[in-house]
Amino acid sequence: MNEAVLSKNKQGWDKVAERFFGRNPLPEYGPFAPNEEDVRLLGNLEGKRVLDIGCGSGHSLLYMEGQNAGELWGIDLSCSQVSAARTVLKDCTVPVTLFESPMEKNPGLPEGYFDLVYSIYALGWTTDLAQTVKNVAGYLKKNGVFIFSWEHPLYNRMTHNGDSLQMTKPYFEEGPYQHSGWNVPVTMQQLKLSTYINTLSKQGFVIEQMVEEVSLSEKDAERHTNSWYTRERASFVPTTIIFKCRKA
Ligand SMILES: C[S@@+](CC[C@H](N)C(=O)[O-])C[C@H]1O[C@@H](n2cnc3c(N)ncnc32)[C@H](O)[C@@H]1O
Repeated sequence: MNEAVLSKNKQGWDKVAERFFGRNPLPEYGPFAPNEEDVRLLGNLEGKRVLDIGCGSGHSLLYMEGQNAGELWGIDLSCSQVSAARTVLKDCTVPVTLFESPMEKNPGLPEGYFDLVYSIYALGWTTDLAQTVKNVAGYLKKNGVFIFSWEHPLYNRMTHNGDSLQMTKPYFEEGPYQHSGWNVPVTMQQLKLSTYINTLSKQGFVIEQMVEEVSLSEKDAERHTNSWYTRERASFVPTTIIFKCRKA
């Protein structure tokens, strides 16, 4: 765990939280990614204990309430995000428990308790993937499900150039980097697909499904186009990778 990076990222997220309020939550998995109606990964959520890693403004947890989940739990690094989530979830009729904490640490979450742990576009912020995945494995019951989406490892290593793509960094380069699309100083982590797969496997997860498809409708273009995500670029390379795994 890198305390200096976490502290800088916390400040960054506290500043930009408002701009990300309700941006691409469930049933969306990410910009130009297929949504839950397309991929049907979550299954029946009735009465389920669910935990959101990097819960942001709480809109994905709100979606979980709409699907009749029984308990809503969330963890996020940013105090502004947790405060927004408390407001968004204030009228929920099922128990809601939120922690302001880095995902690299367990702030008091119960072990062997959850049916589903999920993370929408947050896991790639971790400064310690191995520890974070170990924590997730600890929170889940046996046969519990872990689903997460994050930017596809190819997306930030390529730039769109007219009608072709150029590889601008080696695929093999892993670790921290400053994201060019951000105007506050934050550090993200880039990893290879095999690093995700091997880390999950080491913690006893069985991968049931990976999704790399894109959704390029007019509606997607209207909703998701910005300086970083465009339909043209997404037509060449996946924006998002989604993993569905089960704790063996
Ligand atoms: C793109 S937002 C995710 C939004 C949210 N998952 C949703 O569905 O609406 C990424 C979130 O990850 C959080 N985050 C960044 N680094 C983190 C860390 N190390 N531990 C926990 N949360 C982190 C940020 O504060 C931010 O709220």
